[in-house]
Amino acid sequence: MVTVRAPATSANLGSGFDVFGVALDRPADVVHVEKADRTTIEVTGVGSQYIPTDPNRNVVGAVAEELDAPAHIRIDKGVRPSSGLGSSAASSAAAALALNELYDRGLSREELVPVAAEGEAVVSGEAHADNVAPALLGGFTVASAAGVTTVDTDIPLVACLPEIAVSTRDARRVVPNRADIEDLVHTVGHAATLTVGMCRRDPELVGAGMDDRIVTPARAELINGYELVREAALDAGATGVTVSGAGPSVLAACRPEHRTRVAAAMVAAFDETNVDARAYKTRVGNGAEIF
Ligand code: HSE
Repeated sequence: MVTVRAPATSANLGSGFDVFGVALDRPADVVHVEKADRTTIEVTGVGSQYIPTDPNRNVVGAVAEELDAPAHIRIDKGVRPSSGLGSSAASSAAAALALNELYDRGLSREELVPVAAEGEAVVSGEAHADNVAPALLGGFTVASAAGVTTVDTDIPLVACLPEIAVSTRDARRVVPNRADIEDLVHTVGHAATLTVGMCRRDPELVGAGMDDRIVTPARAELINGYELVREAALDAGATGVTVSGAGPSVLAACRPEHRTRVAAAMVAAFDETNVDARAYKTRVGNGAEIF
């Protein structure tokens, strides 16, 4: 048996829609795999009642198929589904790494990124890599047609998860088809600033670089209380706030000494809108680990 822990991730970071991602040091999924004649899936943990165990409808089924590695796969969910924290990517990445090890396939973590992305296609209809890349490689990742690159960094973050569900499919429907050139220049400039901030381990630059005028405003509409939560986080010392992935989690960057205050302010602001929420005090962390 092989056991792998793969972390939650936050995609986009505002200005890097479908390109940027970070591994979070918590929460995480744990996946156990054992060789079998055909793939069977068992799911326990947070939100497991919403996850199909049919291999044709579960992300890890697609990964097992892709690696030609039938197995009994047990997923212990720590990352809630439909949270915007890369729940399906955590399971896909963990399964890809575990099955690669179990069957001695010899693929590198970089080579496993497109394999795990096939799992993503099962849930969102598209094999995007901005969650599976950080879940496998760790750090801050840039996944584009030019390749997947990663930067080891450790920016403090708060991921605040409200008790509402937003499906990635629905959140992709509100993304505009076209962008104004001024908004594009603004967003590209901020994406570049954020990248420099990650390389320099500078929470001010990372927070400032999250600003995006194209996708985030449309997505924020799907999250009850988003503006209030954003303002509360900024007042408490956050250096930048954005929608985490497709939402509904809200992600804030901050200095380490402000993290507890930012987390409390975000939960309190959701509470004002009668939405229960929990905040993960986290940071950019490592990729999946084999036990
Ligand atoms: N980049 C994707 C999106 C991530 O925002 O739709 C989904 O988890």
